[in-house]
Amino acid sequence: MTKIRIAVQKSGRLNEDSLKILKDCGISIDNGKDQLKATSRNFPLEVFYLRNGDIPQYLRDGVVDIAIIGENVLIEKGKDISIAERLGFSKCRVSLAVPKSESYNSIKDFEGKKIATSYPNTVKEYLAARGVNAELHIINGSVEIAPNIGLAYGICDIVSSGSTLFKNNLKEVEVMLKSEAVLAVSPTISEERKELLKKIQFRIKSVLQARQ
Ligand code: PRP
Ligand code: MG
Repeated sequence: MTKIRIAVQKSGRLNEDSLKILKDCGISIDNGKDQLKATSRNFPLEVFYLRNGDIPQYLRDGVVDIAIIGENVLIEKGKDISIAERLGFSKCRVSLAVPKSESYNSIKDFEGKKIATSYPNTVKEYLAARGVNAELHIINGSVEIAPNIGLAYGICDIVSSGSTLFKNNLKEVEVMLKSEAVLAVSPTISEERKELLKKIQFRIKSVLQARQ
């Protein structure tokens, strides 16, 4: 039987809520903790646990048919990938922040400065649209430490509760975009799997309605 293949974040903030929404849709997945792939017992579906940043490429290549992913990741590296549903969880902002001690006035303050980030495309686009030139320092995690160790003037990263900024003596100065978890679809999904996607979407819609 044909199964639809879904990518879910392997570990991190989206993982738990992603599995929860599938469960609420009546899709049971046996979750062997260190398995990278699992099959549902009661729906023709396979789950692939992947790194966030790799998911857009897997969708593009048709290695997976659908994915639960942060919209911010699609904006950064999957603008060609379409969104079937907004899922209403994992809400966050992608923002620019600087040390609390800086007297920040406007985006022009970033001119000629270094910005540490894991979202280079998003930052480049935001700055270019405002005519600001800055140097990007691309790092994959713990971005908020950069200003404190003299690596950058400011940072661009995800802000959820704001506690990481707070702990690192940073202040949010520009909200570049708002994001939430979405159901994304591979451009190469087969007709047969599209039918399975429709069933999942139908269930998701009623789960989201019940959650309101
Ligand atoms: C994420 C993100 C921010 C933080 C935001 O980091 O990169 O640093 O969460 O959440 P908050 O506003 O609620 O503090 P994460 O902890 O996932 O680790 P990483 O940056 O090392 O990947
Ligand atoms: Mg972080």
